[in-house]
Amino acid sequence: MSDTNAIGLHASSAQQLAERLNGLLANYQVFYMNTRGYHWNVKGEQFFELHAKFEEIYTDLLTKVDEVAERILTLGYQPLHAYSDYAKISQIQEDKQVADGKQCVRGLVEGFQVLIELQRELLSQASDADDEGTASLASDYIREQEKTVWMLNAYLG
Ligand SMILES: [Fe+2]
Repeated sequence: MSDTNAIGLHASSAQQLAERLNGLLANYQVFYMNTRGYHWNVKGEQFFELHAKFEEIYTDLLTKVDEVAERILTLGYQPLHAYSDYAKISQIQEDKQVADGKQCVRGLVEGFQVLIELQRELLSQASDADDEGTASLASDYIREQEKTVWMLNAYLG
């Protein structure tokens, strides 16, 4: 039993999944702060609508930040928790000086596209490792965020 972790997964698979989850966590953290930036700085006729929508999205991202971090702990590893580490490994880049509504929404679409792609890779790796807990987390996020991308693109016309 020495090569399995506390929930019966192969230790080496769990470690690889934890690393991939830490990469995902970094992207969530940068994307979360980008979305707060959109919430704060958006200007124009649709301010009230977008300001509220961006809050709804960043609140959901924050929930997922915690779920991803706690999944890493469940697998027996430590979640990254320093901004310097997030900035180093996140594929989603910091989005600064954005105030135009459509530009904010485009930033959201691009960020969700990165998350969805990372989660598809995670889902595939988790399935190969028989890690149903991580796989179902990834699959729930993918389904939700694919719908969000449709809605954001509908807004963009
Ligand atoms: Fe606010």
